[in-house]
Amino acid sequence: MLIASRSAQVNGRPIRLRAGLPTYDRKDHFHQQAKRDGYRSRAAYKLLEIQKSQKLLRPGMKVADLGCWPGGWLQVASQVIGPAGRVVGVDLAAIDPPLSNENVIALSGDVTEPTVIKEVLDVLGGRADVLLCDAAPKLTGVRPTDQAREGALLEGVEALMPELLRATGTLLIKILDGPDALTVDRRLRMCFESAKTLKPKASRRGSTERYLLARNYRPTFPEESGTTDRDVE
Ligand SMILES: C[S@@+](CC[C@H](N)C(=O)[O-])C[C@H]1O[C@@H](n2cnc3c(N)ncnc32)[C@H](O)[C@@H]1O
Repeated sequence: MLIASRSAQVNGRPIRLRAGLPTYDRKDHFHQQAKRDGYRSRAAYKLLEIQKSQKLLRPGMKVADLGCWPGGWLQVASQVIGPAGRVVGVDLAAIDPPLSNENVIALSGDVTEPTVIKEVLDVLGGRADVLLCDAAPKLTGVRPTDQAREGALLEGVEALMPELLRATGTLLIKILDGPDALTVDRRLRMCFESAKTLKPKASRRGSTERYLLARNYRPTFPEESGTTDRDVE
């Protein structure tokens, strides 16, 4: 089958568009830097930047990392939380080769499956202080399909949050564009005392991704009540 391709630019660099999906230049600055610094992914720099300015991770913390493959965020979290902390990652794909960091455990599975979440809790030894979610659905290039997949994934994570995140805990979650994602984003904000949107430099400029950082989880916070004392950006 012939797949239509045309050219476009991201960050001033040429990319090709195949069936509506950008095929990025995999050798961009962050990709190269990750290789030099020994990170499993360029995504590591997103968390590093957010950690530098927002200080969400601290030594000794329990961290869950949903959608953790190939492991860049696991590496960053492991460094910050240190030997007294623990980070448990889950992904559909297995981390291969496994990370040797003693405070990292990587599981294979679907984060929206309750049995998988039970396993995370067991291994973590209780609810997480920080819930990281960089999960992204497999994209097709068909906008309504991709938006529906992203919405379903976010709804899945939203549903498991009361079980996985401790009261007063912190959530950092990737949000891609779409009406359902926006609805979940709004609902998630209501469960926290403060929330802000971040777009780290390592995010591809052409991508709609952004990160919701929400602090001080209030599991019993009522449905939208019109309260306005939030730090919402
Ligand atoms: C952008 S990658 C994560 C990169 C990672 N944060 C890092 O630093 O290397 C997104 C990941 O989400 C995973 N994912 C998507 N849906 C998932 C699901 N339902 N359960 C588990 N993992 C999922 C994908 O398999 C993919 O590996």
